[in-house]
Amino acid sequence: MTTTAQPPTVGAAHTRVEGRDKVTGAARYASEQPFDQLVHSWLVLSTVARGRVRKVGEEAVRAMPGVLAVLHHGNAPRLTTDYASMLGAPDPTVALFQHDRVPHAGWPVALVVAETPEQAREAAESLVVEYVEEPHDVAFHAGRPDAYVPEDGGAVATKGDLEAELAASSVVVDASYTTPEQHHSAMEPHAATARWEGGRLEVVDSNQGSMWVADELAKLFSLDPSSVRVRSEHIGGAFGSKGVRPHQVAAAMAATVLQRPVRLALTRRQTFAVTGYRSPTAQRVRLGADADGRLRAFGHEALNLTSTLRPFVETSAALGRVLYDARAHHTVHRLVDVDMPTPTWMRAPGEAPGSFAVESALDELAERLGMDPIALRARNEPAVGPLSGLPFSSRNLLGCFEEGARRFGWAERDPRPRMRREGRWLLGTGTAAATYPSGAAPSTASVTAEADGTFTVRISAADVGTGARTALTLIAAEALDVAPERVDVRIGDSDFGPAWVAGGSMGTRSWALAVTSAVGELRGRLALADGEIPPEGITARTDTAGLLAELAKKERHSFGAQFAEVAVDVATGEIRVRRMLGIFAAGRIVNPLTARSQLIGGMTWGISMALHEEAVRDEASGSQLGADFASYHVAANADVPLIEADWLEDPVPDDPVGIKGIGEIGIVGVAAAISNAAWHATGVRHRDLPLRPDRVL
Ligand code: MOS
Repeated sequence: MTTTAQPPTVGAAHTRVEGRDKVTGAARYASEQPFDQLVHSWLVLSTVARGRVRKVGEEAVRAMPGVLAVLHHGNAPRLTTDYASMLGAPDPTVALFQHDRVPHAGWPVALVVAETPEQAREAAESLVVEYVEEPHDVAFHAGRPDAYVPEDGGAVATKGDLEAELAASSVVVDASYTTPEQHHSAMEPHAATARWEGGRLEVVDSNQGSMWVADELAKLFSLDPSSVRVRSEHIGGAFGSKGVRPHQVAAAMAATVLQRPVRLALTRRQTFAVTGYRSPTAQRVRLGADADGRLRAFGHEALNLTSTLRPFVETSAALGRVLYDARAHHTVHRLVDVDMPTPTWMRAPGEAPGSFAVESALDELAERLGMDPIALRARNEPAVGPLSGLPFSSRNLLGCFEEGARRFGWAERDPRPRMRREGRWLLGTGTAAATYPSGAAPSTASVTAEADGTFTVRISAADVGTGARTALTLIAAEALDVAPERVDVRIGDSDFGPAWVAGGSMGTRSWALAVTSAVGELRGRLALADGEIPPEGITARTDTAGLLAELAKKERHSFGAQFAEVAVDVATGEIRVRRMLGIFAAGRIVNPLTARSQLIGGMTWGISMALHEEAVRDEASGSQLGADFASYHVAANADVPLIEADWLEDPVPDDPVGIKGIGEIGIVGVAAAISNAAWHATGVRHRDLPLRPDRVL
């Protein structure tokens, strides 16, 4: 192998390898791929929140121009619904058209297929579906008597006697917080095209893991895994919503029935109903401390809703198990089943709403103790995992606070609230801690030394817009000791073998372990072959299953400190964020350019969560009011002030790649930092998100 002198790779800023394709339109997204004989489909969603489908009036619609098929529970192919998926139990939300039950408003009840998208839409909107309605229940609130602790092993974690330690504490904070139903509505709505080609089911999709989607489609349709190929090269956002969803299943079903390529692109409105969302939460935090700030008691109870189809736990109470030690430490998740769509992962699932409650409560405790909020956190910094007792691979949370405090100018802050005023604006600053687990899962990669001196890496990774493909290019180039320009990374194809998904902040780390292992293999083979490369190249393939067991013997997490300054309009209650700073300890940063964007993106979403996002559920109909961007408010450019994100050196010596993951942590703690700043500005605590003007006044 010829090496160039120290090419800039990992740690050097690199623009996206596919950036030019994306900005010139050469990159094709899922619904833009051309296919011969392509037909189009449109999903019909239930308008009632609970009951049964009595009749689908397909005859009238089948006579409409261009209509080819109307699929529903009465005529759709049967699916296998009893299987073990890559992520555990089968997912009843993708068992389309298998029964007449309607579990929530927005449940897919039919698919209309036609020659053109317009014909499909016209016919779908004309389809008359009759229901037998049953009373429904979508009311979510704390204290529901039917709340239960899910069987999921991680729902409860306890140490010590919480009530006794609370009773023995000098200062107690007992506060309840709520976060609303929130939706990730990716810029590129979900879309899939399915066709049968050479005896294989081929799906072009927009997803977070082509292997994951292929695996479930194979199981649902009882196909050999090698008979399914899913591709998803370019993805316009995902954030947890782009897993296995009804659109892939519906397209595959219609392609099977019609033996023609079938496209299904969801509308913006449909993505709100069909692709998951973050459950609202109701959380109670109880903190008890000695007068010096040492925690005696840490209690966090978190309630979220799920559908009647399957349990989904928003793990809001998990972060306290890592952040703070206390003599008594109790955390529990509870669920309540309602007639609503099944929630799913949304950026920093658990930690995003959980950190609002915990990091607000810590601020309340600091106020009551007359202590600086950063000093309070320093006082409760654990030496080992508070519940696991395991050592941290690296932590550096206090380092983040110190660096952040220095750069933000925290030392000049008057701790008393309501001390700064500019005309009708009250000003305040706040801070909060952030953390997110740093996991990894087995993945396979192959690396080929091509005869022309370049290298091709193949891995079923997904770049949801974060720059993961560029990061993998830098990682492979570093391992190969060549310039990134000599490395071509191919992703988003289930034919490249099993790999972890772009999720849980685990993508780049899991894939990097596989890519570097494969490069190690290749280097060994090239040494044996004395550098001679045959025209077809030399390929090495590795999988990382063996590597990961050893790594599980430590607490592995990213950490961060969030700082915010807000101005509160005393006349209107409007809150404007003036500046934000996030300092993170997230292991090795592969590409500083895209890493900064990723963290700032998460922080911006945190502003959105703090001030704007709130889905409104109509209890009478059970459906979401205003499932569109006119009604579901997200932060716009004018809401986003000066934001800076940076990181500390955070070496993880025992980790072969040293990457911790930065996908989720940017949003964690932001809403609390903003809410704490709003308290500092006004002297009034807010425990319900979003901080709407009518609540602030
Ligand atoms: Mo992330 S919410 O695990 O895609």
